[in-house]
Amino acid sequence: MANEEGGTGLVPADASVSHGRDVSAGTAVVQRDLAQNPGLPPHRPRTTDLDPKADKRSERGVSLLFYLSIVGSIGAIVSYFALPIVPDDPASVRLNTLFIGLSIALALLSIGIGAVHWGKALMADHEGIDIRHPTRGTDATRERAVEIFREADQESGFNRRKLLRNSLFGAFIAFPLPAIFLFRDLAPADNDPAELLRHTMWEEGVRLTRDPEGTPIKASDVTLGSAFHVIPEGLNETEHKLEEKAKAAVLLMRLKPEDLNVSPGREDWNYQGIVAYSKICTHVGCPVALYEQQTHHLLCPCHQSQFDIKNEAEVIFGPAKRPLPQLPITIDADGYLVARRDFTEPVGPSFWERGEYEQ
Ligand code: FES
Repeated sequence: MANEEGGTGLVPADASVSHGRDVSAGTAVVQRDLAQNPGLPPHRPRTTDLDPKADKRSERGVSLLFYLSIVGSIGAIVSYFALPIVPDDPASVRLNTLFIGLSIALALLSIGIGAVHWGKALMADHEGIDIRHPTRGTDATRERAVEIFREADQESGFNRRKLLRNSLFGAFIAFPLPAIFLFRDLAPADNDPAELLRHTMWEEGVRLTRDPEGTPIKASDVTLGSAFHVIPEGLNETEHKLEEKAKAAVLLMRLKPEDLNVSPGREDWNYQGIVAYSKICTHVGCPVALYEQQTHHLLCPCHQSQFDIKNEAEVIFGPAKRPLPQLPITIDADGYLVARRDFTEPVGPSFWERGEYEQ
């Protein structure tokens, strides 16, 4: 049995050491040196509690920080316009990101420091004890909750200190503004992004060529069951090759004409069973690269959307919401496959409303 001599700090329980617990004398043991509750340190009033001038100074200091945050947010917008990114000039990228980053840091830090200073110097600093309750409080508890909100409002001075409150609102409103300009920067500055995405390099007479060589494809090259990765002729010579390819990439397959279910108006979009569909998945834009020759299904490896080529690439599985756009094709005088026109709907993810962008 553990005892004092054993050096364990445990002693047999008796009336003198039971500390008010219900223990059996002589058989139970209790710790001799139970930690005492140290309680709360004595309250020390802050300078802002004692001196109204110090209180006012702190209030102005916090407001100043919130105004600084506004300056930071506006600074980010100004930096965006004043220090534009010039293509092929790394120094301009450095300057642009440096000043936008510093301005946003100033905006965020000022709100953070201001809020902390407000809490430490101006809000009521008495310590309170919150007893735990069942999850669903009683009506009295709920009323108390409302009271607490009111008290918090009183103690923080949120409604009373209008300068503080309004400057904080201003800081919060100004802070997201730089994001608008930064997100706009994801699209080309000198072109309407909707228009750019709406059209591809395909137009009447443009030959279908192998990806990546760019060699034209004759209808006779496309045997039953084969599939070609296709780009428009001339794509390799364009300035923004990757951007163009991301919109114009096509898959070419040959089926038996009688296996194709063609809807009215699309009768001449295939050439003797050779069909071309956009390779850009209508879910979130991955390349639909897998062709199942027996079932004539196209599979997107990203999230497993499947498209049925026999039925105009309708979605038969997965998260994609609309069929792959079909490229109308025919052959030219030399027997090479050519486009009849551009796609009749935007390629890629389905956030485009089809009706709105129908040509
Ligand atoms: S991108 Fe094709 S299924 Fe998600």
